Amino acid sequence: MKILFYDTKNYDRESFERKCEEYPEIQIDYLKSELSPNTARLAKGYDAICAFVSSDVGTETVEVLHECGVGLILMRCAGFNNVDVKKTGEYGIRVMRVPGYSPEAVAEHAMALALAANRRINKAYVRVRENDFSLGGMLGINFYKKTAGIVGTGKIGAAMARICHGFGMKVIAYDKYPNPDLDFVTYVTLDELLAQSDLISLHCPLMDETYHMINWDSIQKMKDGVILVNTSRGGLVKTEDLIAGIRERKFFAVGLDVYEEEKKNVFEDRSDDIMESSVTARLLSFPNVVITSHQGFFTEEALAAISETTLENAMAFERGEKNGNEVE
Ligand code: NAI
Repeated sequence: MKILFYDTKNYDRESFERKCEEYPEIQIDYLKSELSPNTARLAKGYDAICAFVSSDVGTETVEVLHECGVGLILMRCAGFNNVDVKKTGEYGIRVMRVPGYSPEAVAEHAMALALAANRRINKAYVRVRENDFSLGGMLGINFYKKTAGIVGTGKIGAAMARICHGFGMKVIAYDKYPNPDLDFVTYVTLDELLAQSDLISLHCPLMDETYHMINWDSIQKMKDGVILVNTSRGGLVKTEDLIAGIRERKFFAVGLDVYEEEKKNVFEDRSDDIMESSVTARLLSFPNVVITSHQGFFTEEALAAISETTLENAMAFERGEKNGNEVE
């Protein structure tokens, strides 16, 4: 089975090459280029392609992949909002993903962002490096005994709920399908969650119904001085409204691992570029905002699990079996 990898970074290659030794039937070629309608043409002669969160797996790309005879799209990530699943369905191209490689990796990063933004760790680091040991602007709040509101209590949200519980927080949550394992969590409506939470952490998928769920209206329903963390998908938050809310002093702190205009940035060194849009720069200009570049998944354990499940997905496809990781 021949698989063409797109947008390969060194760490992807290392982790897949290590795992591939156990799968002699699989041959992988690695491309640094990102998947797009143009680069999709390179997939001619391959059985499958492997793409990631910021890959363009939209209508045009899927059409080209179909013309090239590709039968399987392996997403080496959990989300698949960038895949035109209607089109892949029409062409009979199977899409498989890695649903739960390490929920704790993302949840721990969500808490890291909440703590860093709350205690202004980014500012403190720079200040101390410059021999400035003053504390002005560093005042934080305790999480202990505060209320954490988790939006979406699937695998990652549940892990975040457990972390918040461990911090001695009261944990409330909103999900269409409450998680029966979380007996310490009180489920509430979204409006109740917005009104009661001191820390709101987003863990639901990006879909039509969740697009811009954090907007001017929902921000007005939040407590003053709330901390917002998004490690799920940028499209959950309407950035212009978030910026307006930060300017109104609604937020004590904001931690973002994902944001709307991240597509061009994710995993690229753009330090020499003149940025054409100022949204990220505007967000970074606020002292209470911490942004990371979609690194929630980036732990050794998660990378090992991603390569293992992706190759198992490829083998399941090859054997004509279903293993539950299909996107349908
Ligand atoms: P999951 O599928 O286990 O859980 C999602 C939960 O959201 C489910 O319980 C579902 O019922 C709930 N949900 C669906 N619609 C909802 C709505 N309208 N309102 C509230 N809840 C709703 O997914 P998992 O593995 O926990 O991942 C969550 C998200 O995290 C993914 O969709 C992905 O976008 C993001 N992610 C981010 C990563 C990063 O590196 N920052 C890495 C991996 C995932």
